[in-house]
This record gives sequence, structure tokens and C-alpha cells, in this order.
Amino acid sequence: MSSSLFRTKKVEQSILDTEEPEHALKKSLTALDLTVFGVGVIIGTGIFVLTGKVAKETAGPAVSLGFVAAGVVCALAALCYAEFASTVPVAGSAYTFSYASIGELPAWIIGWDLVLEFALGTAVVAVGWSGYMRSLLDNAGWHLPAYLGGRDGATGFGFDILAAALVLVLTAILVIGMKLSARVTEVVVAIKVTVVLIVIVAGAFFINGDNYKPFIPKAETVPAGSSLKAPLIQLMFGWAPSNFGVMGIFTAASVVFFAFIGFDVVATAAEETKNPQRDMPRGILGSLFICTALYVAVSIVVTGMQHYTKLSVDAPLADAFKANGHPWYAGAISFGAVVGLTTVCMILLLGQTRVFFAMSRDGLLPRFFSIVHPRFRTPHRPTILLGVLIAVIAGFTSLSELAELVNIGTLFAFVVVALGVIILRRTRPDLHRSFRTPWVPFVPILSVAATLWLMLNLPAETWLRFAIWMVIGFLVYFLYGRSHSRLGRHEETTIGEVMHRPPKNDTE
Ligand code: ALA
Repeated sequence: MSSSLFRTKKVEQSILDTEEPEHALKKSLTALDLTVFGVGVIIGTGIFVLTGKVAKETAGPAVSLGFVAAGVVCALAALCYAEFASTVPVAGSAYTFSYASIGELPAWIIGWDLVLEFALGTAVVAVGWSGYMRSLLDNAGWHLPAYLGGRDGATGFGFDILAAALVLVLTAILVIGMKLSARVTEVVVAIKVTVVLIVIVAGAFFINGDNYKPFIPKAETVPAGSSLKAPLIQLMFGWAPSNFGVMGIFTAASVVFFAFIGFDVVATAAEETKNPQRDMPRGILGSLFICTALYVAVSIVVTGMQHYTKLSVDAPLADAFKANGHPWYAGAISFGAVVGLTTVCMILLLGQTRVFFAMSRDGLLPRFFSIVHPRFRTPHRPTILLGVLIAVIAGFTSLSELAELVNIGTLFAFVVVALGVIILRRTRPDLHRSFRTPWVPFVPILSVAATLWLMLNLPAETWLRFAIWMVIGFLVYFLYGRSHSRLGRHEETTIGEVMHRPPKNDTE
């Protein structure tokens, strides 16, 4: 049994699958395209929204150090992702990587985990989008009732109508197969980066040094009775649960980590990259580096513009300008955020349906989900099912709780990818790797340790929710996936046969 749990899909098979004419994607992306795409996915709710909430509740101005810590963890993981993406240049990200290296069960776990990352990530970005949309509407003198503004600000019933509506509209767009063209992506990325630069440059003039005092606020014990909300590490060592202080920086890092999610999505474009071996690592590391620098600068400026205790939690970057008497800047920032977050939301939603689709095509989820729409040629079933579910979740759930759950899932995927690099080096030393993670196994092990450290800084209740999600995943795998897996049923064709058979249809 254990061997069947760790059966692997051959790397060559994965690559050959993508070369079948019916399935081949055009290889046209360069390192620059990947970097632009990366920045397009990475900059989103994390910097536009979570910065304010985390500074206010967890770290004060030291939130900028939290960004540095999260950036370091991501850089280590990126070195591992880059080796994987340049060795197994096929769509599907960590799910495909693990299927090729560690085995079916770990791949299933990762795929299940990625569905969580992308689906809930979409909800988080939609909620962040709605905050800026409301700020924009406020500027125009149009105020939405508090109960339609979501859970975070509401007393009693609260439903984020704008977030839910955005997800439903994007779902419809994805079902009919509309794509973001490269040109549109470039324009949106340009608007988003311009807005971030406006915050940094214009905001620098409004910095008041007093707002940095104290830079690292003293640790505050949180009221008893909310122990499940405390970071797991504090409970493990019997420390009194607290916010702020030095530990607050790491708690902050584990939340603002959300701002970095997306560089792993760049790896999903490996199949469409002209020279993945060279350009993939450049694209991943380049976009990560640019975003880290921007994040640190933005968080320093914003906490300098307004005392951290006064930052807004819905649209902190725009509201810091309003508080300084500059509603015009606030309007421009809200507009840029609304445009930029729309595409992040769309890309995450797309990523989510594609992982679900890949798992269904491999037989690990019902094949019903990988039957594409006869006219639009899109995987409409998982798109609609998950789109509606995400819209409801985005309407009813609090932003930070969702973000923490997304983070734990993504961090867990990092651990598996880092271990995968070590395993694949041993099991397939022969594979061509034009990008090699330096100092293996030292860097992957360091990556695992750093990632686990951030995970331990997430609240105990996030671990609990993640555990429940994973238990459901195990049940689905053992009750369904294991026996229906195409690999398990020996439906996979040998490499020789693949080369000689006629192209098959996605829908079979
Ligand atoms: N990193 C993306 C964001 O912050 C997902 O919205």
C-alpha cells in the first residue's frame, strides 16, 4: 500500500503530456514577462490592507521588519521553487512538482492545499478590493450601509456585498473564457506600481518622526479566554499570549506573508516560458525582490504618516492620506488599488480552477470536473462551483482569519517543495537542471525551518482549521482519489506510446 501512496508520475511523462499538440501551450514568455506577471499577482491585499491591520494590532511600526522576515522566508522558498520549475517545466505548480518527485499522496495533499490557498486567497483579495471600493465611493459621497460592508466592521449581521459581487462577476468572465491579455496585464501592473510609488514618494513628505515612537511597542498580554487566537508557539511553550514586542514582529510576518503569495504562481507559467531553465528563476526571484523592497518602503512610510494606533483597517494607505488632509491622493490610491486588486483576484481564481482541473484530469477528483464547456472550452464546472462558494465565504468571513488560513496552507506547500528538491536530487540526479538551488541540502533545510517558524507564529485556531481541511482531504483521497487515480489504474501511457498515439481531447 505504501508504495502506491508514493507512486510518482514520471517527469518525462509530465513534460511529454504538455507536448501533445492538443495540450501544448505557446512558449512565448520571457524573464521580463514573468517578472511583470509576478509583480501583477504578488502586489495586492497584503500591502494595501493587511499592513494597516497588522501595524495596528500586532507590531506597530515594526510591521516593516515583519515584511523583511516574511521576504527572507519567501526568498529561501523561491530558490527551491525555481529549481523545481526549471526541472519540471509544466503547468500545475507544486502539485505537478510533487507528483513527479515525492508521490501521489503528497501531491494530493499539496493539490488540496493549493485549492485552499487559491480559493480563500481569492476571497481575501475580494474583501480587500471591497474596502478600497468603499473608500472610493465614500470620496464620491456615496456611503454603503455598515451591514453590507462585511464582517470586520459590523456589529451583528454583516455581509460584504461588493466582495461577493466581484467574485461572481469574475467567475462569469472565467467561464466564458475571457483572458487578461498581456497588454492589459502590463497596464494594470503599471497602474498598481505607480500607486505604490505615489504612496512612497508623496507619503514621505508627510512622515512625522513621532509616529515611530515606539518603533517596537512593548509586548501587551492579550485578555484571557482568547487563547486559541494566540500564536501556536506561545501556547506550546506556555508563554502568556501577547501582541507587539519582538515576538509581535514574527506574528506580523506570519500574517503579512500573504502579501508575498503569488511568486509561486509564477512557477505555474513554466510551460509557457521560452527558456524556462534560465528565465523562470530570474522571473521568480526578480519579482520577489522588487515586491519586498516596495513593501518595506510602503510600511515605513505609512506608519510614519499616521500613528499605528490610528491606522484604518479597511483602506489604510488611502486613509493615511485622508488623515493628512489629502483626499485627492486618497482617491487616486483607491482607484489604483481597485484596478490592481481586480486582476490579482482573477488570477488567483483562475489558478484555483486550474489546480482543481489538473487533479480531476489525473483522476484524483471526479472526472466530471475536467469536462470542459463545449463552446467556451473552459473548465466551467469547478469554476462555477468554487466561484459561488468563494463569493459566499468572501461575504461572510473576516479578512485576517481568512488570510491566516491561506498563509498556513501556502507555507505548508513551501515545506513540501523544499523537501521535494532534496528528494528529486537523490532519486533523479540525472535530470537536467539549469537552475540549481545553491548549497543543497542546506538551503532547502533552512527553508523548511524558516517556513515552520512562521507557521508556528500563526494562531492555534488557524492550525485547527487547517487540520480539519486536511482531514477532509485525506478522506476524499482514501475514499475516492486513490482508487480512481489514472496512474493507479495504469491508465497512464508509456512514454513511447504517448509519442505515437493521436492527440486526445481534454474532455475524455
Ligand atoms: N499577494 C497577493 C495579495 O497580497 C495575493 O493580495
